[in-house]
Amino acid sequence: MATFTLPKNSVVKKGKAHATPSKAARPKSFRIYRYDPDTGENPRYDTFELDLDQTGPMVLDALIKLKAEQDPTLTFRRSCREGICGSCSMNIDGRNGLACTTAIEDVKGEVKITPLPHMEVIKDLVPDFTHFYAQYSSIKPWLQTVTTAPSGKERLQSPADRAKLDGLYECILCACCSTSCPSYWWNGDKFLGPAILLQAYRWLADSRDEMTGERLDELEDPFRLYRCHTIMNCANVCPKGLNPAKAIAEIKKMEAERVL
Ligand code: SF4
Ligand code: SF4
Ligand code: FES
Repeated sequence: MATFTLPKNSVVKKGKAHATPSKAARPKSFRIYRYDPDTGENPRYDTFELDLDQTGPMVLDALIKLKAEQDPTLTFRRSCREGICGSCSMNIDGRNGLACTTAIEDVKGEVKITPLPHMEVIKDLVPDFTHFYAQYSSIKPWLQTVTTAPSGKERLQSPADRAKLDGLYECILCACCSTSCPSYWWNGDKFLGPAILLQAYRWLADSRDEMTGERLDELEDPFRLYRCHTIMNCANVCPKGLNPAKAIAEIKKMEAERVL
């Protein structure tokens, strides 16, 4: 019988418990996934305590404070701190989201924080986005035209055509949706996943783009597009309130309706 060996970093052990700040008026516990490939050790969960009266309101505020005051090796991504850059995406209390827009007080009890699920982990809360970005690149996320632009002018859109991009252009590529999609977990090597497909539809829906047929040809594939089974996890977790499942349905409709 074939033996199954657990991947090296699949067993998460109990890690270090950091001391509670003395005289904490409103103590709050954080259990955080730690993994450092340079040590060769298995991942672990470290526990930390903070006084909410001395901490900003968001999960990212807590991480920044923990790194500054308790453990400078704690590693995570962040930039804008206001839900625009998409870099602080992680799993908080079992749900993917942005650390900078998730209020600590919305999590009952201990705040458990892990990296986005089903991604390779570079260190602690930092997942490897190499494959995700390669998939993004594959859909050619820029305006493609064959006709020459009106001389000296931009390619204009009517307000109605511009409105078709609402609900699409706001995507910040945080990958919260793709990493909560069971189809992407199991077939992420070939299935583009909700984030990249929403981006693909953003260019299909753009009245100025002239490569619609070629874009649909690229997507017409049993894996790249059709692994979406409308489970809707993507729409449930998107921190920008977008609906990738709807965008995917629109692509499937365009594929079905086009005249070859
Ligand atoms: S609707 Fe499709 S893309 Fe969204 S979570 Fe479900 S399977 Fe994944
Ligand atoms: S659709 Fe939403 S969850 Fe998905 S990458 Fe874009 S902003 Fe993030
Ligand atoms: S830090 Fe930019 S989205 Fe959270």
